[in-house]
Amino acid sequence: MAPRCWRWWHWSTWRRTRPPLPGSTPSRSRAPVGPDGCAGRPASAKCGGFRQRFSTQEQPPQICVVGSGPAGFYTAQHLLKHHPQAHVDIYEKQLVPFGLVRFGVAPDHPEVKNVINTFTQTARSARCAFRGNVVVGRDVAVPELRAAYHAVVLSYGAEDHRALEIPGEELPGVFSARAFVGWYNGLPENRELAPDLSCDTAVILGQGNVALDVARILLTPPEHLEKTDITEAALGVLRQSRVKTVWIVGRRGPLQVAFTIKELREMIQLPGTRPILDPADFLGLQDRIKDVPRPRKRLTELLLRTATEKPGTEDAARQAPASRAWGLRFFRSPQQVLPSPDGRRAAGIRLAVTRLEGVGEAARAVPTGDTEDLPCGLVLSSVGYKSRPIDPSVPFDPKLGVIPNMEGRVVDVPGLYCSGWVKRGPTGVIATTMTDSFLTGQMLLQDLKAGLLPPGPRPGYAAIEALLSSRGLGPMGPACLFLGLGEAGCRGSVPGQGCWEAPGEAAGSSGDAGTAGALSLDPSLAGTEGMLCRGEGPGSASRTLSHSCVACPPWHGALAASFPGPSACFPLAKGHPRQR
Ligand SMILES: Cc1cc2nc3c(=O)[nH]c(=O)nc-3n(C[C@H](O)[C@H](O)[C@H](O)COP(=O)(O)OP(=O)(O)OC[C@H]3O[C@@H](n4cnc5c(N)ncnc54)[C@H](O)[C@@H]3O)c2cc1C
Ligand SMILES: NC(=O)c1ccc[n+]([C@@H]2O[C@H](COP(=O)([O-])OP(=O)(O)OC[C@H]3O[C@@H](n4cnc5c(N)ncnc54)[C@H](OP(=O)(O)O)[C@@H]3O)[C@@H](O)[C@H]2O)c1
Repeated sequence: MAPRCWRWWHWSTWRRTRPPLPGSTPSRSRAPVGPDGCAGRPASAKCGGFRQRFSTQEQPPQICVVGSGPAGFYTAQHLLKHHPQAHVDIYEKQLVPFGLVRFGVAPDHPEVKNVINTFTQTARSARCAFRGNVVVGRDVAVPELRAAYHAVVLSYGAEDHRALEIPGEELPGVFSARAFVGWYNGLPENRELAPDLSCDTAVILGQGNVALDVARILLTPPEHLEKTDITEAALGVLRQSRVKTVWIVGRRGPLQVAFTIKELREMIQLPGTRPILDPADFLGLQDRIKDVPRPRKRLTELLLRTATEKPGTEDAARQAPASRAWGLRFFRSPQQVLPSPDGRRAAGIRLAVTRLEGVGEAARAVPTGDTEDLPCGLVLSSVGYKSRPIDPSVPFDPKLGVIPNMEGRVVDVPGLYCSGWVKRGPTGVIATTMTDSFLTGQMLLQDLKAGLLPPGPRPGYAAIEALLSSRGLGPMGPACLFLGLGEAGCRGSVPGQGCWEAPGEAAGSSGDAGTAGALSLDPSLAGTEGMLCRGEGPGSASRTLSHSCVACPPWHGALAASFPGPSACFPLAKGHPRQR
């Protein structure tokens, strides 16, 4: 069925949205969000009323979510929970779901990854389908999705990084923290990063939680990392690492660091390392923290104690034999990456000494005119992630790096919504992303209820599947199989290039990883390049095998118990359109 044009429904009924005021946060919620995700009112009053209104005579709304990170899954969760007939298709460019929970959260923080259990529950809903391996904006355009669905939610995160925009940034030895994080987490596009860790000193620019993640991974003893699900390749490189000192550099002062207390405490307690903090940086701070908000106060007190007091017996015992160190350098802004004498790689960084103008969180760093050179062989720029525009039809604010929106409604594009980092910018933890995604879901349902979305049926995935296959593309199966979603998305892809098939599914079972027991590979793929992972048993949780695989999910651990045999990695067909 040919997708219909949006124009035939009533544009005039759409409430005009205003672009955010300059300098304002584009998508800040005004009403507090309740535990069910419905702002301002209890579930029974608002969402319950909504449920009653959408009777079975209504068309089941076909909703498309782009991106399967926390934003995509929490938006889907809200929609499915509060509309009894809504059907949600989640499109994801990777073979596997969960976005930064898979490819960002540090491997030594497994407890954070437990949210995948909630997401998997959502994915298991009969009204939800995961469509992995589809790059929206390349394989399928946003207007095509809008024509096929009643509403489209863009939750595609922030896949780029902010550039430093300083000379020397392109030198070998300089990496974005985003790429480094992707490398140690097995993100396919960063698999080949191969950072050279043969230097003595590394510098991380930026003082956020990503900077601390990266510093911790660089300094954690390999025997500790072995117990995590870090990739085998990264572990191998880290085992050979000669990095002894990591400087974490901020352009502002101790009162403006962006990391949080839990992550700082982990650094202080890191085995085999000791902190280097200059007490001079903390002079007079004790008096100034009296009036700051409590989380900032506690964080600064911990910094102060670490900088100025002798370590307690336990800390002293841990730090005495330490062969590695990390330090915080304040009031230093990156000015130039200094090349080695032969000009072939980074050998240091020139920092502009700064002072603060203003006070508290809002204080600005301004250069004093002095500079300082810090020798180092590795520079990791951790000054923030950045979203990219997805499609020319979707408005994008390049300055803020967000899709202009009002509480998740994309400005001036009826039926289009956004959630997560692409909605509010690349800050905030998973819980923040949950709250804002619930709010977007709520706005969408409100619009549906108000008759602002197109009436009549929409073809949903059927139309997109036809488009994809007319382009020689089709979703692959493994993620669906691991998620136990049954045959819906698991039919493989291009004829003649092989696909995954679950024996249990072929025999008519649900295709659930647990019941299928094993996944088999089309023999025509043997000996070709690329990687997919096969899970057959408890061994599928094995770090050794799993982490060179594109498709190996972090949820191996969670699902491992379902697999009754060993696991193995297999290649993806050479020349397969999905191979990158
Ligand atoms: C390194 C790092 C570590 C973090 N650690 C923690 C932590 O320990 N605890 C915590 O609470 N928070 C942590 N966070 C924050 C948390 O990860 C974010 O709040 C959250 O992931 C944002 O969710 P999102 O869905 O907006 O983006 P993402 O998680 O990035 O998800 C976006 C998804 O969209 C997909 N996508 C992108 N483009 C397309 C396209 N064109 N077509 C289809 N799909 C597409 C991506 O592949 C991805 O799966 C961390 C963040 C980073 C960067
Ligand atoms: N364990 C966790 O919970 C965890 C782990 C990782 C990430 N996260 C979350 O993910 C989000 C993103 O983290 P992030 O560390 O990427 O970002 P972030 O928290 O925004 O920190 C960015 C850092 O880069 C600095 N910076 C920005 N531009 C700069 C420039 N041009 N020159 C020098 N320094 C610059 C910032 O300093 P200024 O303040 O001076 O701008 C800040 O110190 C955060 O909300 C974070 O809490 C959480």
